[in-house]
Amino acid sequence: KKRIAVMTSGGDSPGMCAVVRAVVRAGIYYDCEVYGCYEGYSGLVQGGSLLKKLDWEDVRGWLSLGGTLIGTARCMEFKERWGRLKAAKNMIVEGIDALVVCGGDGSLTGADLFRSEWPSLLEELVATGEISTEQRAKYQYLTIVGLVGSIDNDMALTDSTIGAYSSLERICEMVDYIDSTAASHSRAFVVEVMGRHCGWLALMAGISCGADHIFIPERPHKAGSWRDELKRVCSRHREKGRRKTTVIVAEGALDDELNPITSNQVKDCLVEIGLDTRITTLGHVQRGGTAVAFDRMLATLQGVDAVRAVLENTPETPSPMIGILDGKIVRKPLMEAVKLTKSVSSSIAAKKFDEAMAQRDSTFKESYANFLDISEHDDGSQ
Ligand code: F6P
Repeated sequence: KKRIAVMTSGGDSPGMCAVVRAVVRAGIYYDCEVYGCYEGYSGLVQGGSLLKKLDWEDVRGWLSLGGTLIGTARCMEFKERWGRLKAAKNMIVEGIDALVVCGGDGSLTGADLFRSEWPSLLEELVATGEISTEQRAKYQYLTIVGLVGSIDNDMALTDSTIGAYSSLERICEMVDYIDSTAASHSRAFVVEVMGRHCGWLALMAGISCGADHIFIPERPHKAGSWRDELKRVCSRHREKGRRKTTVIVAEGALDDELNPITSNQVKDCLVEIGLDTRITTLGHVQRGGTAVAFDRMLATLQGVDAVRAVLENTPETPSPMIGILDGKIVRKPLMEAVKLTKSVSSSIAAKKFDEAMAQRDSTFKESYANFLDISEHDDGSQ
């Protein structure tokens, strides 16, 4: 019987529990045993009670839950070779030869590195007498399958990461709350949303909530003129009769000289045009809470496909990442997706913003372009 370990790693996202549930149940359906690896990579490094067999009933009720019930952690030990050596030994002791990791690009890169090092780790374990040559022969290959759990929607080669739509929903709900008090007092609100390197949440929240203006890292405003532009747009909307002003700022927003655009700077501009302005930083409410239907569906379909990918994997197959493109669940080479994602960040760092947008994916670019066209004619009436 194949033994699969499933772990959640990096920042949690709604839908991670649904992933674990799907992997456990699909694993049982396909006659495998599934182990929960608790606390991310620490579970592999420490082994023992952090590697626990999960049965069908153990994941009952997990479909809609937020966070991750098997825990997540940033594990420093796994970044060191000695930590990975311990992890390899623990896996062999438990008889685990496949790993399904749900996390962001850092966690998935760690998994792929582990796989590439696997033969040499086993070599070292045999040399020190910690495993036998029979065990080395039996566990010759390590299978890794990645699923992307991230609220930021910041991975290339997939249209959506698990958790992004739950977070977007939460942001929209919060902005709706803010809108009613804003309109009552005729106030302006600067709403800061998460997205360290990626503006998807800010952009989509801005579109979905009819924001007056949006600041994201990938499409930076000009350093010398964004303040005037912001004031002009918001004043125009007010002149047209809008009683509230909403500006969404991604936490990683930049101008075209790579200076951060902060909520306080945006607030100052709005105050200068006479608006009574407040800042709301949404923080971790964006990450917690139940998963929306889309994330439950995505987590379940991808979790099932992850088990199939484990069973179909050969030593020659590059580690797959399960994604979704044009509504279809797809497998893409994990490291290709990570590389492309990183080149978006480095394009931004090199001020090649158009390149960053083009690389991210075409749907993102098109929706932004459409939004710009609309906002040219926008009278601020939502
Ligand atoms: O998962 C990514 C993210 O949500 C970012 O958008 C945000 O900057 C970060 O996590 C916050 O992380 P932490 O919880 O470690 O402060």
